[in-house]
Amino acid sequence: MLIRTGRDGFQHPTASEITPRAVYEDRRRLLKWMATGAAGAALAQWAQREAFAQQVTRPGKLAPLQVVRSTVPGAVTMEKITEYKDATSYNNFYEFGTDKGDPVENAHTLKPSPWTVEIEGLVKKPAKFALEDLVKLAPQEERIYRLRCVEGWSMVIPWVGYSLAKLIEKVEPQGSAKFVEFVSLADRKQMPYVGSRVLDWPYVEGLRMDEAMHPLTLLTFGMYGEVLPNQNGAPVRVVVPWKYGFKSGKSIVKIRFTDQMPKTAWNKAAANEYGFYSNVNPNVDHPRWSQATERRIGEDGLFARKRKTLMFNGYEPQVGQLYAGMDLKKNY
Ligand code: MTE
Repeated sequence: MLIRTGRDGFQHPTASEITPRAVYEDRRRLLKWMATGAAGAALAQWAQREAFAQQVTRPGKLAPLQVVRSTVPGAVTMEKITEYKDATSYNNFYEFGTDKGDPVENAHTLKPSPWTVEIEGLVKKPAKFALEDLVKLAPQEERIYRLRCVEGWSMVIPWVGYSLAKLIEKVEPQGSAKFVEFVSLADRKQMPYVGSRVLDWPYVEGLRMDEAMHPLTLLTFGMYGEVLPNQNGAPVRVVVPWKYGFKSGKSIVKIRFTDQMPKTAWNKAAANEYGFYSNVNPNVDHPRWSQATERRIGEDGLFARKRKTLMFNGYEPQVGQLYAGMDLKKNY
């Protein structure tokens, strides 16, 4: 992997540079301050999330990434984090097979380095980023997101990355750009199921410009404090926490700005089942199953109850306004 750490020159800020000094230097002063009303309450919540995020276990399997805590509202859910072994062995990555256990078995043939990501289409500054440069564009934040798959299961994963908006601002979209398209690698030599008829390759996903610019939309380089394992979309993917998992394209090689709604892989495969928006919505069923509940991976004992699926996967306070006035049954 070509993701650089402090050792070879690339310095992320340390946690103490990001976190208010008071947290480290004077807990009592901080607690007093926290007791002083609204600002204090917000800080208390922040401190709680901070403490929670520190519980993320580092599996020690791949190259570590230096991370800072995220201050983006909604970026850290306090739910129990899914075990690393579950998050990395129960995957959808059809380029490596259609069974949940296929990607972990087969994705060793993916070469995540060297890697480039091309930015093209309606932008003032089209660019070709080497992964090492893309990684350095902004500090890597830890974001603990729920991921809800359209198939009815979910996980809680500590991702590492930065808001996609940071990259978008850098390349300066033209006024005519209305959508962003994400194109995954489709190389038969590295990906044994590219060429199979299950999808029209490459895997393409897309977002409306305001969705792509939303601070929760994460350009993702790692999980559990380390670089992404191949089966989870190494070396770079998108994670859009309020949408079904398939909107989060893996192993991305191109980001294209367009004025047309992108023709996405699953929409092309079954337009009546997989819409462009695909916001998590317990009130709009998939034609073949209900979306009202979900099974949390790792909680599947005999007596485990299904959880209620939340509107926008629980991110309604942050993203609900993006869809004000839209008929979400029509725009599924
Ligand atoms: N990206 C590519 N390129 N190919 C895929 O098959 N599957 C999607 C999404 N991104 C997929 C993809 C689906 S259906 C889900 S649920 C998530 O990846 C799963 O991500 P995870 O394996 O990291 O949990």
